[in-house]
Amino acid sequence: MTLIAPSILSADFGRLAEEVKLAEQAGADMIHIDVMDGCFVPNITIGPLVVEAVKNATALPLDVHLMIVSPEKYIDDFVKAGADIITVHVEACVHLHRTVWQIKEHGTKAGVSLNPATSLSSIEEIMQDIDLILIMSVNPGFGGQQFIPSSIDKINRAKKMVLSRGCSAMIEVDGGVKLENAKEIVRAGADILVIGSAFFGQKDYRVFMENLNRELYG
Ligand code: DX5
Ligand code: ZN
Repeated sequence: MTLIAPSILSADFGRLAEEVKLAEQAGADMIHIDVMDGCFVPNITIGPLVVEAVKNATALPLDVHLMIVSPEKYIDDFVKAGADIITVHVEACVHLHRTVWQIKEHGTKAGVSLNPATSLSSIEEIMQDIDLILIMSVNPGFGGQQFIPSSIDKINRAKKMVLSRGCSAMIEVDGGVKLENAKEIVRAGADILVIGSAFFGQKDYRVFMENLNRELYG
């Protein structure tokens, strides 16, 4: 079963609690929260306060994607706010091993994300320690961008790396995922699909999930 993580970046922030509840009722498996600092990526979004508000609105696990420099400074705050998974970017961490273990010491799941131009070899030495590999299939910063086609091959190679090393890390794919390409991405090896604009751009999230399930499972 592929897990579905709607990204609230494309939700109506004025009705955030309701949007998150609707996503839950539609059958989402987790809520993906994009934290951007205007430094690592050219956009500013949300911080721990909003994560806490989302936590109070849903029983679903919170999948917090940190697109910020020096993420180690804020990990404790996001744990307190209710994050269940914290993902940091390999490009933003000088001491990735230390940062991953800082996350895990809290009992929180640790993910590592790679930008489209970052090689899978950059996580070779940390693969055994992490719970999740987040493959960016767009350049991070904004919702609604086009899926970069070469990501399919990268997902495939990531899956092979995980399997050949006997790791338990799940593979999550983020950026440009929609009904039309979901099946191909899953076939390539994705365990979790982040879906922002394609999910929240629909009027009826239940109908979207029904259509997605039809695409994935026939
Ligand atoms: C992009 C974010 C994504 C974004 C995905 O930097 O990490 O999570 O919300 O949005 P879509 O699905 O619209 O590409
Ligand atoms: Zn994201």
